[in-house]
Amino acid sequence: MYQTKSPEEISWTQKNPATSLRLINQLNIPKDSAIIDVGGGDSKLVDFLLDDGHTNITVLDISAHALALAK
Ligand SMILES: C[S@@+](CC[C@H](N)C(=O)[O-])C[C@H]1O[C@@H](n2cnc3c(N)ncnc32)[C@H](O)[C@@H]1O
Repeated sequence: MYQTKSPEEISWTQKNPATSLRLINQLNIPKDSAIIDVGGGDSKLVDFLLDDGHTNITVLDISAHALALAK
């Protein structure tokens, strides 16, 4: 999917992963807490977390293409 389709063509793409961000914010964890997005793909979640000041984020995905896009 990541090799042949743009983010707009993939059904799970969210411009703003609002629910995930709200749930993470509700935890009130320190900004240097370790966060891992398992199956993170090319999601913008990590970008929003970085913008929010989080500094210890890992994205795990089985797709090298997804991780290349995310980088
Ligand atoms: C439905 S997509 C969601 C991607 C991302 N979380 C998002 O919201 O855009 C599922 C993701 O899980 C990844 N995935 C599937 N099986 C996996 C596995 N065994 N280990 C790591 N990632 C996996 C896929 O490559 C894909 O990026």
